Amino acid sequence: MLHTTVVGNGSSKTITLDNMNPNIKTMEYAVRGPLVIRATEIEKELSAGSKKPFTEVIKANIGDAHAMGQKPITFIRQVLALISFPELIDTVNFPSDVKAKARSILGGCKGGSAGSYSDSAGIEVIRQHASEYITKRDGGIPSNPDDIILCAGASEGIRATLKLFIEQDASHPPTGCLIPIPQYPLYSASLAEYSIYQAGYFLDESRGWALDIKELERTLKEAKTKCVPRMLVVINPGNPTGQVLTRENIEEIIKFAYNERLFILADEVYQDNVYADGSKFHSFKKVMMEMGSPYNGMELASYFSTSKGYMGECGLRGGYSEVINMDAKVKAMLLKSISAKLCPTVLGQAAMDCVVDPPKPNDPSYDLFIQEKTAVLKSLASRATMIADTFNSIPGIKCNPVQGAMYAFPRITIPQKAIDAAKAKGQQPDAFYAFDLLENTGICIVPGSGFGQYPGTYHFRTTILPQPEKLKIMLDKFKDFHVQFVARYS
Ligand SMILES: Cc1ncc(COP(=O)(O)O)c(C=O)c1O
Repeated sequence: MLHTTVVGNGSSKTITLDNMNPNIKTMEYAVRGPLVIRATEIEKELSAGSKKPFTEVIKANIGDAHAMGQKPITFIRQVLALISFPELIDTVNFPSDVKAKARSILGGCKGGSAGSYSDSAGIEVIRQHASEYITKRDGGIPSNPDDIILCAGASEGIRATLKLFIEQDASHPPTGCLIPIPQYPLYSASLAEYSIYQAGYFLDESRGWALDIKELERTLKEAKTKCVPRMLVVINPGNPTGQVLTRENIEEIIKFAYNERLFILADEVYQDNVYADGSKFHSFKKVMMEMGSPYNGMELASYFSTSKGYMGECGLRGGYSEVINMDAKVKAMLLKSISAKLCPTVLGQAAMDCVVDPPKPNDPSYDLFIQEKTAVLKSLASRATMIADTFNSIPGIKCNPVQGAMYAFPRITIPQKAIDAAKAKGQQPDAFYAFDLLENTGICIVPGSGFGQYPGTYHFRTTILPQPEKLKIMLDKFKDFHVQFVARYS
């Protein structure tokens, strides 16, 4: 009965667009926005027999490798199979190191089952492995398992950290957070949700999406008139921009953050995805520690994920954050806040364990593991080059090298007539372009406006994830489309 009663706001519903949390209405997440909704509709239309100029939708909108045909890494899936159904351990013919790992993870699970809740920060043995992995990655700089918090994908860890900074006192200016523009929309969406002021610093497209300290200074100065800047987000390697920061650049960023008392969130989920000759991943933690005092005492949260790299296990929701030098009492609050979510998925934690403690030389799974890992990364590297080269061969499209991560973010010249047509439809010109591309070719990309871009410039983001054969078909179709689009609106 209650739900049919008309409540105070004149609606039969207790929650309506007028009285719901306005921050949720403000937040946008382009990677799963209207283009993707339309792409899914088109897929249904195609399967219902509708005739189109193409036979399939190519979803190049989201960094989801398995969805684009990448095969899982055998070692990870064998371990998951055993921990999901432990009876197999004694019956199935899997390598002994797979069985040992499954036993070790199950040993860390309460009741010996992956179906039990774990500690909120994650299973202890996995946090231990993560800290050993970081120590090795950073050339021996120690990592403490107590600083590792496993999370259901990096997204959850990032959001847990951001939330700590919400300013509740309306008489104070809001907290501000510096984020790159273009950025991965998890940041803009979460900041909007938490009423944290977004201060965007532009990456320099003309210098391969470099992060310029002068631009950070400009952004900070402007932000200080509207908020109290307390956080700096750096995505390295970059999404959607694919750049890999140099060590010198990271040092400059750390000095800037130190001088301005900013908490650094280093989003390093693409740390294994570095392709370009001369590019190398440097973790913020390592650089900070090597810079010595006073920088080695700075607060830092860095993030890693099972979703990216060579494993691409997005749906398992595995990730961790390493939080260093945080005030002990605040850290206790962070742990309390995540405890309200009970724990990250245990299967996601198990996948993370396989990544941070993979087979070692002489282990029976080692050769296959290395073979599969290398093949994925090699193929991604060749796709990164193929995609940038092809876009650069199309008049009116310009693409920086894809040094790392999983995306290209080319700049497009959109004819004035198309800009006018977009305005008439109430669309951003790059969204207009992307919809036209989708309807004519079945290729689903994300318009640059979903990530933020320098005013007056237009871009799109495509992943490099379609398998090589499909990527070639996609790029050929793209080329034809762009030429026709420009001709149509010239
Ligand atoms: C830069 C960046 N950070 C974080 C994430 C979130 O990854 P997940 O929550 O799947 O670990 C992504 C996903 O695409 C990303 O690109």
